[in-house]
Amino acid sequence: MTTPSDAPASQVYSWEPSNSWIAARYGCDPASILRFDLNTSTTTPGWVADALRATFDPPLHEYPDSLYAELAEAAAAYTGAGRYEILVGAGMDEVLDIIAKTFIRPGGRAIVPIPTYSMYGVLTGQRSATIDAIPRRPAAEGFALDVDAICARLEGADLVWLCSPNNPTGAAEDPAAIVRILDAAAALGSAGPVVVVDEAYHEFIRSSFVPQRERYPHLIVTRTLSKAFALPGMRVGYAVAVRPTIERMERNRPPGSVTTVSAALAARALREPAYALATAAAIPAERAWLGEALGAAGWPVYPSVTNFILARVGSPERTEAATLALLRAGIVSRTFGPAHPLRGHLRFTVRTRPDNERLVAVARAFMEEQGA
Ligand SMILES: Cc1ncc(COP(=O)(O)O)c(C=O)c1O
Repeated sequence: MTTPSDAPASQVYSWEPSNSWIAARYGCDPASILRFDLNTSTTTPGWVADALRATFDPPLHEYPDSLYAELAEAAAAYTGAGRYEILVGAGMDEVLDIIAKTFIRPGGRAIVPIPTYSMYGVLTGQRSATIDAIPRRPAAEGFALDVDAICARLEGADLVWLCSPNNPTGAAEDPAAIVRILDAAAALGSAGPVVVVDEAYHEFIRSSFVPQRERYPHLIVTRTLSKAFALPGMRVGYAVAVRPTIERMERNRPPGSVTTVSAALAARALREPAYALATAAAIPAERAWLGEALGAAGWPVYPSVTNFILARVGSPERTEAATLALLRAGIVSRTFGPAHPLRGHLRFTVRTRPDNERLVAVARAFMEEQGA
């Protein structure tokens, strides 16, 4: 769901409206609200409760370690990068913000293949830079990157925002397409743009561009603990790039935005990734069930390799009515406004079977009512 125009001022910059706001607005029970819009896990890892009772180092009456050494080391070991090839932030969104501040000049230009993760446009706009929106190939071509169009725009651009697997379409980018963009950017030498590959959903596919960083010093890979690691409330993300690139970004990093508690829990999660990998491994079967059930209800879905799926609902009017029917039933979906290339679609997180059944029941009832 995008932030409604009548949301309170405190919600204007928030990514999504809160449960209490939705409950009051749509008359549903806040306790029964299901967030199908945030691509998060449905349970907190079991070890977290014990970990929160531990003594932290440094203790909580002191500031966090400004280098987040333990967390950076854990991220380095997890990704196979060096300790100084990691930059830590309060969620990937802060990491993306630091990247934008470092590499997008005020009045500059950043390339955004659309549709993609909305923050790239927001952050580029905040730099008073031009959002160079390049449409993806059509749905029938899997929303693939238009590599020729992107390469034709690289000269003079500050940055290229790529996302693989891509949110909200759910498909992984063709690695050969990303390599072509990296090569073309590298051919421009030091004047070439930085290329960001956002791997928020990495654990669902496992392949990565991290090993390419030495070949492409202008490549930055970004990751998060919010998705397969199931810790979005901890707000931890990180970037991986060669050391000189990380050092440039460090100048724009605030010293203590990641709390001591968050850093400790994220470090442990990265040292023990079995939980995240098991979460990811359970997704394909449930995703297939949900995709089939939504399709049978009349909302066909696109292929996805992630923990969310994009469904085609119909006309923008029908999609708006469906969104409302879902909200009244306490189900929050990710919506796309009238000017968005995905108007007429909704995006759903793959949740548990009972949750998914609740979604499908509302979808079915809605489509029956529509006579569709
Ligand atoms: C592609 C992508 N990048 C980044 C983020 C933000 O992650 P974080 O919670 O670490 O800020 C998200 C969250 O939905 C996402 O989908």
